[in-house]
Amino acid sequence: MFTLSEEQLAVRDAARSFAQQELRPGVVDRDREMQHPTELVKKMGQLGFMGMTTDPAWEGGGMDFLSYVLALEEIAAVDASAAVIMSVNNSLVCWGLQKYGSEELKEKYLRKLAPGHWIGAFCLSEPEAGSDATHQRTTATPQGDSYLLNGTKNWITNGATSDVHLVIAQSDPAKAHRGINAFVVESSWPGVEIGSKEDKMGIRSSDTTSITYTNVKVPKENLLGTDGLGFRLAMETLAGGRIGIAAQALGIAKGAYERSLAYAKQREAFGKPIAKHQAIGFKLADMVTEIEAARLLVYQAAQLKDHGHDYQLAGSMAKRYAADIAMKHTTEAVQIHGGYGYVREYEVERMMRDAKITQIYEGTSEIQQLVIARNIIKGQLYPPVLI
Ligand code: CAA
Repeated sequence: MFTLSEEQLAVRDAARSFAQQELRPGVVDRDREMQHPTELVKKMGQLGFMGMTTDPAWEGGGMDFLSYVLALEEIAAVDASAAVIMSVNNSLVCWGLQKYGSEELKEKYLRKLAPGHWIGAFCLSEPEAGSDATHQRTTATPQGDSYLLNGTKNWITNGATSDVHLVIAQSDPAKAHRGINAFVVESSWPGVEIGSKEDKMGIRSSDTTSITYTNVKVPKENLLGTDGLGFRLAMETLAGGRIGIAAQALGIAKGAYERSLAYAKQREAFGKPIAKHQAIGFKLADMVTEIEAARLLVYQAAQLKDHGHDYQLAGSMAKRYAADIAMKHTTEAVQIHGGYGYVREYEVERMMRDAKITQIYEGTSEIQQLVIARNIIKGQLYPPVLI
């Protein structure tokens, strides 16, 4: 049972009206033209959507994770690209900095990132290290008061528009993943080169690039946490990030369902609205049921995080299920719309393209299965709050 508080409902309503009134008007054109929603992202910062769970001491919203998930769902229901920009800044960059950053790093970076004055990117994936994330080839070699950063990161969300990168790199190959570190790197530093924007299937108005670091001098004080903690930090950060992506997938599915229901009630065939034909009514019934099931998993994972419980298993379950039903039901949404579903104007074809990435980034569906399997085999109880 989720009884949302007045504050949580207010956050959800604010996100819903921002999404409907501000994001919706240009969403089709931005997708077609791969146009970044720069001004809208600034506005999201002003409205407090870019550092929602960050402590107010660092200009964040100080909200719970469930509120963040509610806002993300509403934004993704209209514009999945804006949702991923928001998600990476909130749950990967601000969260990682708040948890592991020194006071100096928080003062210097979090204070700008949480209100959205600056945007962050999370740089873990590499051309040859995607799912197999421990095999980092980017190196950060200690040299006097600095580390020398060399290597290439791939598929970086906010790659072209970020001011700050949270970079994972290998400092001591002999120690394998225990030699990996995490750093805060500024995009304007000498040796940072941003690749061209990927021409993607979906989430086309968010920018995804490679980033190459050549002899970038990173001051030692920009190390996050202690030496050798980088891989753990990345995994812990991603465990929360995955709840965010689950909320994005949930939002995409919800958006597709709402449009499908409205369309099926007004479109007539064989003398009655198509919603009243069993073939379509049953599709809508399955959509709403599975979306509700996904919602419960996503909200529960968020609540476990809020209550200080282990949320890795719950987050992976939520992401795996929400991403899969997003893909399934956006495809059904296109089918319900028939020929109209196949053209941009009706938006569901974009949602189908957008849904696909939720099965891939922040850990593929198969990586979520691996995390779930490992957790249950080692005896992790699910869900810890109920058992
Ligand atoms: N919290 C803390 N530590 C964790 C952890 C967690 N949730 N999960 C794993 N670890 C630790 C382990 O304890 C272990 O440390 P020790 O050996 O010191 O005990 C270490 O990490 C290595 O773990 P494994 O032995 O399980 O490593 P593995 O190689 O067998 O598997 C994996 C790891 C789960 C497959 C991991 O590599 C993984 O999650 N891969 C997917 C990567 C991913 O999600 N990439 C997304 C890119 S970011 C992105 O998409 C952002 C964007 O722009 C949208």
